[in-house]
Amino acid sequence: MPQKYFITTFGCQMNVHDSETLAGLLTSLGYSPASLIEEADIILFNTCCVRENAENRTYGNIGALKALKQARPELIIGMCGCMVQQPSEVAKIKQSYPYVDLVFGTHNLHQLPELIHKVQTSGSRVIEVWDTDGAIYEDLPIRRAETFRAWVTIMYGCNNFCAYCIVPYVRGRERSRKPEQILAEIQDLVRDGVKEITLLGQNVNSYGKDLTGGERWNFARLLREIAYQTDIQRIRFQTSHPKDLSDDLIETLATEAKVCRHLHLPLQSGSTRVLQLMNRRYTREQYRQLAAEIKNRNPGIALTTDIIVGFPGELEGDFQDTLALVSEIGYDGAFTFIYSPRLGTPAAKMADPVSEAEKKRHLAELMKIQNQISLVKNQAFIGTVTEVLVEGVSERNPGMWSGRNSQNKLVHFKPVSQLKPGNLIPVSIISATTFTLEGEFLSSV
Ligand code: 5AD
Ligand code: SF4
Repeated sequence: MPQKYFITTFGCQMNVHDSETLAGLLTSLGYSPASLIEEADIILFNTCCVRENAENRTYGNIGALKALKQARPELIIGMCGCMVQQPSEVAKIKQSYPYVDLVFGTHNLHQLPELIHKVQTSGSRVIEVWDTDGAIYEDLPIRRAETFRAWVTIMYGCNNFCAYCIVPYVRGRERSRKPEQILAEIQDLVRDGVKEITLLGQNVNSYGKDLTGGERWNFARLLREIAYQTDIQRIRFQTSHPKDLSDDLIETLATEAKVCRHLHLPLQSGSTRVLQLMNRRYTREQYRQLAAEIKNRNPGIALTTDIIVGFPGELEGDFQDTLALVSEIGYDGAFTFIYSPRLGTPAAKMADPVSEAEKKRHLAELMKIQNQISLVKNQAFIGTVTEVLVEGVSERNPGMWSGRNSQNKLVHFKPVSQLKPGNLIPVSIISATTFTLEGEFLSSV
């Protein structure tokens, strides 16, 4: 019987893509994917620790596997990713989750094959978490979830140390992949039929700063080279720190047709005082000017953002500043979070007198305003024709097909027999909701 694997992924796109590498490594060992977790011979949890609820959900999932492990002791249960880069979590796993057989970190993911071998031959649990972050492992096998769209990592780590954020501690310092490696990977993807790539990094705007020797590289140049040197049709990227967003990038976004008309630009707070406490290194005014400049030079662009409410010391006036800026800028969408203290970060030591109830009220108010704005933004597409990359049957609405337009809007349309995932099609938009557009395929265009 061929051995089967099941991977559960928490967190950001970086983790989703790391799971594709885990799947690639397991495939190279002869494993195939299990459709049900109960059928798997190895179960991996690729974890996230950016907020506490991600950690709690992981432990909940792992707790639920105790009976399965008791029934089938040969089953391997593994944990990897950001959560296990924290010594406090490894100690907890050691103590409270004896049926977890394998623990490995973000810096030694490539070791999975030898670590599985070690578990199988030693018969005891294997815990191997590196804290070094210097190396980039190229040429690992990747089993991609989709054929027409792909994630491409351009850099690892983060140097920013925003006061609330655990990422720099668990992903290490910024390391850029060499442009030749990135371009070669994209050329291979195009050959395999990929139409759209999303370039990944915690802060893509500092791409190239650490590359030594040879020519100078920056993110705007990388985007242009990808556009010129490859036949990829659409380029997306995330995430951008506002303090590093260059004029050159604003220009490239506005002028390169292959670069999608969407920018995810985390605001985090609209109060200069809170931004300072957060160590974001821009003011409300600087962000506002940046957003205005981006929209002036690129009127069709969709802006999305991340916002944290309830950062330690955030007062009512600070929150009102955030609301006012959100309304003024008019984001197409926002991911909104209640601040979650992370052990080892500076913010975790700051006094936080605001009650949980107050934070929840603020979150609800912010989401209400943002949802109204998102709806208006989406309604502006009614009566227009927009180009959609077909993804296939809609997850939310199985009677329909879905895809995304350049602005990253989710577009629903009725299934059409001649279409298949990966087609770029014109869709005439008929209606809109807060999170989706709906339209009809224009076959005659
Ligand atoms: N609490 C709440 N939200 C957080 N984020 C990062 N760290 C925390 C935290 N401790 C949010 C930020 C970031 C997004 C990925 O997660 O908004 O941009
Ligand atoms: Fe975290 Fe800030 Fe780095 Fe983003 S830029 S990963 S929020 S430290």
